[in-house]
Amino acid sequence: MGVLDRAFAALYDPILGLAERTGLAEERGRLLGDLAGHVVEIGAGTGANLPYLGSEVARATLLEPVPEMATKLRARLDDERASGTLSVSRIEVLEAPAEALPVGDDAADAVVSTLVLCSVDDLERSLTEIRRVLRPGGALVLMEHVAAHGFRRRVQGVLEPAWKVIGRGCHLTRETLLAVQTAGFDTTEVEPWHLPGGGPTGLVVAGVARNPA
Ligand SMILES: C[S@@+](CC[C@H](N)C(=O)[O-])C[C@H]1O[C@@H](n2cnc3c(N)ncnc32)[C@H](O)[C@@H]1O
Repeated sequence: MGVLDRAFAALYDPILGLAERTGLAEERGRLLGDLAGHVVEIGAGTGANLPYLGSEVARATLLEPVPEMATKLRARLDDERASGTLSVSRIEVLEAPAEALPVGDDAADAVVSTLVLCSVDDLERSLTEIRRVLRPGGALVLMEHVAAHGFRRRVQGVLEPAWKVIGRGCHLTRETLLAVQTAGFDTTEVEPWHLPGGGPTGLVVAGVARNPA
């Protein structure tokens, strides 16, 4: 689906622009600012999280399976490198899905997933992979929209078939927090959050899900 993937990659930053300016960017900073060591990001998209990786991050592995998004990501990385705005010197971009992470066992101190687990093809397998690469005690940093309740949930169900096409596989009614808990993560540091202007994706869970030590 080259045309839709190209359109999604081209429109992603403009579509999220208002949300970024009214709270999303701040939330990214809150979640990512204290990360350290080797950080692996799944579904890194156009690189919206890049500015929030601090100098304690020794190495960042940015994974993005869709070539059109990976192209935007590399371009942003080049721009930020050229303007000297990055705090992390060792960053690599690889085209890979969350279901098959090109990262060794226990190799990551943190895995970042922002607005991605809604779109992976196989949620259970992705979470198994994330646990495999995270060291014991490591952090899965989450910001994911989830299924709402009652009337809002019914609206999500009606919109979902078309949304999945436009949003390149994005599921509105995914019970992502439940899946993260079922995969064995400790989610006591994960809280509800509201994505500004998020419409049917407004109900979000955000925080750190811990890989048990
Ligand atoms: C809504 S965007 C989020 C981008 C970025 N993480 C952010 O916070 O802005 C979803 C991203 O997940 C990627 N994606 C889709 N399927 C995926 C999969 N199976 N594994 C990893 N990423 C995937 C998409 O290509 C897209 O870049």
